[in-house]
Amino acid sequence: MKDIAAVILAAGKGTRMKSALPKVVHKVCGVPLILHVVRQVKRAGIKKIVVVAGYRKDLVVDCLKNERVEIVEQARQLGTGHALLVSAQKLRSFNGDILVLDGDVFFEDKTVLRQFFTFHAKRCVEMSILTTTLDNPFGYGRIVRESNEKVVAIREELDATPSERKIKEINTGIYLFKSKNLFSYLKGVKKNNRKKEYYLTSVVDMYLQKQKNVGCFNIDGTHAILGVNDRVQLSAIQKSLQAVIIREHQRKGVTVVDPANTYIEDGVAIGRDTCIYPYTYIEKNVRIGAGCTIGPFCKICSHSFIKDDAHIGSFVEIVRSRIGQKTRIKHLSYIGDATIGRQVNIGAGTITANYDGIKKHKTKIGDKAFIGSDTILVAPLTVGKEAKTGAGTVVPKGRNIPRRRTAVGIPARIIK
Ligand code: UD1
Ligand code: CA
Repeated sequence: MKDIAAVILAAGKGTRMKSALPKVVHKVCGVPLILHVVRQVKRAGIKKIVVVAGYRKDLVVDCLKNERVEIVEQARQLGTGHALLVSAQKLRSFNGDILVLDGDVFFEDKTVLRQFFTFHAKRCVEMSILTTTLDNPFGYGRIVRESNEKVVAIREELDATPSERKIKEINTGIYLFKSKNLFSYLKGVKKNNRKKEYYLTSVVDMYLQKQKNVGCFNIDGTHAILGVNDRVQLSAIQKSLQAVIIREHQRKGVTVVDPANTYIEDGVAIGRDTCIYPYTYIEKNVRIGAGCTIGPFCKICSHSFIKDDAHIGSFVEIVRSRIGQKTRIKHLSYIGDATIGRQVNIGAGTITANYDGIKKHKTKIGDKAFIGSDTILVAPLTVGKEAKTGAGTVVPKGRNIPRRRTAVGIPARIIK
């Protein structure tokens, strides 16, 4: 999409979050809010993306380090209108349409933006607003229309009259502007509101007052375009996105026994016929093969890879590890920084002690090894193929167990 550039407003602190972190770095299903917005914009085919950052800009930049976006700084947070004005420096030579989104706007439907582009293009208008209708419009800018349905203003909650507050059609914080007049209008915006900020919504009012052609695309409420202002809204969004993620896995052939009590972050791959039992938490960047059983009550952390037909049972935590095919880790284990081969049996209570207080170390366990219950493997350590440990063994770091040999005792002795 060459003729549309996007500006994402993400400089605010997010006072209502009551947080030391900027609002847009708070995570939903493991992914910062701002990254969800950037991904939606990219999915809609937009290549040129400008992010306006300000409060704790370093943290926002860090969230976006793997994305192709340009960042501009709004040093003082003087309002959404001012934030957009700051982005002008990156858009001087750009002649197409400018999509503007709040960095805290959240929506799941991947088609929303494209629908909005089509609407805007067909109407040939100077600017378009994306609106929706909510049962509880509290906190949003309300769309004020005349009796003939013509939009006349966007009124913020604080500035609205009691009757305007009853309006259920709200501003989603997503707009499209022809670049031509936008920045000169923005320069004319006044702080004529209760918050004494330069509102982006005031520029919309200017378009309306100048009798410019403004389009208003109302998308129905089931598309749930929501702004996240506080932690109650954050958890509501987390819940709805979680349901979507789990449904996608189910549709691809994964059994999730109890979706309401299962947590799978965004960016997890799971093979067919794998069964996830309740109270399992799977972080992003995890890959699980086909035919596995996972849980109940287990945690699989980022950068873990589990091959087909493995069993990860209750109260097991897997951190940055590779687990081979048909390997069983069924009860009460911590496996960190380990590479475990195929058909390995990890007994109940086994721990890979990967951290010495300064550095993390690796454990390698060969195919068909048998680790007895309650073994502690102090890393760095290699356990050979088909090697064994007796119950309760503590294997000190570096005391590698050769292939087919057995280690027993504390500290471990290698026996035949
Ligand atoms: C805004 C809209 C409101 C709309 C709602 C949708 C305005 C004035 N109001 O209200 O009509 O219904 O979003 O969710 O635009 N930001 C900056 N710099 C600033 C201030 C804010 O970059 O100086 C960023 C914030 O980081 C945030 C976004 O702009 O991502 C929106 O700001 P926020 O304060 O959340 O606006 P709302 O009160 O939700
Ligand atoms: Ca908001």
